[in-house]
Amino acid sequence: MFFQQFCRGLPRGYQLSSRIFYDMQRATFASASGYDKGNSKDRSSTYTDNDTRRHSYVLATLTTVAGIAASPEPGSVIDGLPTYSLADVSKHKTSADGIWVTYKNGVYDISDYVKNHPGGNKILLASGGDIGPYWDMYGAHKQEEIFEMLEGMRIGNIVEVEQRKQGDTTDPYSNDPKRHPALIPSSVKPFNAEPPVSLLMQDYLTPNNLFFVRNHLPVPDVNLEKFRLDIEGIGASGKKVLTLPALKTVFKKKTVTTSLQCAGNRRSDMVKIKPVKGLNWGTAAISTAEWSGASLDDVLKYCGIDLDKVDCDHVQFEGMDRGPDGTTYGASIPIEMARMLKNDIVVAYQMNGVDIPRDHGFPLRIIIPGVVGARQVKWLNKIVLSKDESSSHWQQRDYKGFNSSVDWHNVDFSKSEAIQFLPVQSAICEPVDGQALDDNEEVTVRGYAWSGGGRGIFRVDVSADGGKTWITADIQPSNQSQYKAWAWVFWEATVPLPQGSSGKVELVCKACDSQYNVQPESVEGIWNLRGCLSNAWHRISVSIPTE
Ligand code: HEM
Repeated sequence: MFFQQFCRGLPRGYQLSSRIFYDMQRATFASASGYDKGNSKDRSSTYTDNDTRRHSYVLATLTTVAGIAASPEPGSVIDGLPTYSLADVSKHKTSADGIWVTYKNGVYDISDYVKNHPGGNKILLASGGDIGPYWDMYGAHKQEEIFEMLEGMRIGNIVEVEQRKQGDTTDPYSNDPKRHPALIPSSVKPFNAEPPVSLLMQDYLTPNNLFFVRNHLPVPDVNLEKFRLDIEGIGASGKKVLTLPALKTVFKKKTVTTSLQCAGNRRSDMVKIKPVKGLNWGTAAISTAEWSGASLDDVLKYCGIDLDKVDCDHVQFEGMDRGPDGTTYGASIPIEMARMLKNDIVVAYQMNGVDIPRDHGFPLRIIIPGVVGARQVKWLNKIVLSKDESSSHWQQRDYKGFNSSVDWHNVDFSKSEAIQFLPVQSAICEPVDGQALDDNEEVTVRGYAWSGGGRGIFRVDVSADGGKTWITADIQPSNQSQYKAWAWVFWEATVPLPQGSSGKVELVCKACDSQYNVQPESVEGIWNLRGCLSNAWHRISVSIPTE
């Protein structure tokens, strides 16, 4: 009760997080029950109970808050907590001993958290040691919400930080390429960014330097002299190896125009319902390019593999982007998909007529039209025909869908299929959300629409009254078949504005694809813990002059 009153009395900006509040309640119980007797001032004492240790952290935080200072920096020394040495921490590597990690001056007991970690078992790499170098690599961790989670597991302080600093390696992202300043990053290390919506429809083929970027790791710096593409597994009778010049000269050049979309495109709409774990993409984590290279079918044939007959179940693709544990990014598609798409899957070395830029996979990227971007592996250097799906984290424990009742406490990634073909999608690009229109009679609305699996777009509907009445948009003609449409369409509709409105109007769009799939009306029913496949009707709000 005291804590609730205390929290209510705090000035804005000093509210306690729910996690800390939860810990405070637990700590109060521990204190009231005499559970924290071991919390002596002896800095070398060993603490055996989580509640007791957290009590100290909570009280330390409270003291800071009560002193009307901002929350302590993540990992900074908190007075009143026990102090440990690096050697103490290194003894806690297993669930039997408790799993401890450090971050700057902080010591954390992550034993209970590891099973819910969205990044899977990789978290265990840091057991008994420092998470700093790993978080330098997986930079998406460095956000307020995650620091808050980390501090919720705080149990102590560490000395010897200065000493450790001397051994620090250089920033793993220091060799990343320069990016166009217009790109809007959702994370910097690794680099993930989308173009401004206002530039997205400037060109049908997105210029390479404005194409959205989705990286999971540092961009590899590839030595072309040494670069090889390995093809191995079932049917390959040993390993076959191709050089880049061979790919460019031995095979007929195949070009496909495809849109690539991140599974998290429009995640920011889903976040409005309930928080999710994932990069906060807007509506532009989608772009289109012309990709050229050798067809996968030709490459496999050259290696003696007949895609239609080979006795395997999956085609795996491996990249050269490497995590701190040495594992690389990877993904796979079922063999049936490879057969269905075989004429259009390209081992690409060009993007819009030039060498693929480093951020997009130089020198090779596998292009699999109609499929989620996550499977179109960049920096490709290995193709494996296998009975198994890729064992990569991003195939097994990420890029999967769940219903909205599944959250981190009850998720079982093994029960869900990997996302492959994407569902129908559309978004309004003009006007932009929040724009003030200068006309109150009508508005011209423009946007994109796309569907996975080669399904073309039959219709796009636009509404200026929240979806009560609709206008059918004009779709810019393209020479794609409606049943083998790999790239987006642009559309435009001039919509009368409702009269007598109070100055705010909601514009809505929805697309219908060539299998008559229509986007769902609301995001509530499709919310999922990872925020993937956010394709509800796209709604924006604009203001109109009232007289
Ligand atoms: C110790 C505390 C840790 C916490 C609280 C934590 C929390 C999280 C969260 C919330 C995400 C989802 C982020 C997002 O997609 O926006 C995540 C993803 C991830 N984490 Fe951790 N993490 C921790 C430690 C680690 C460590 C030590 C490693 C590696 C050694 C690691 C590797 C990863 C990876 C690979 C992902 C997936 C990133 C991606 O989707 O590209 N995490 N973690």
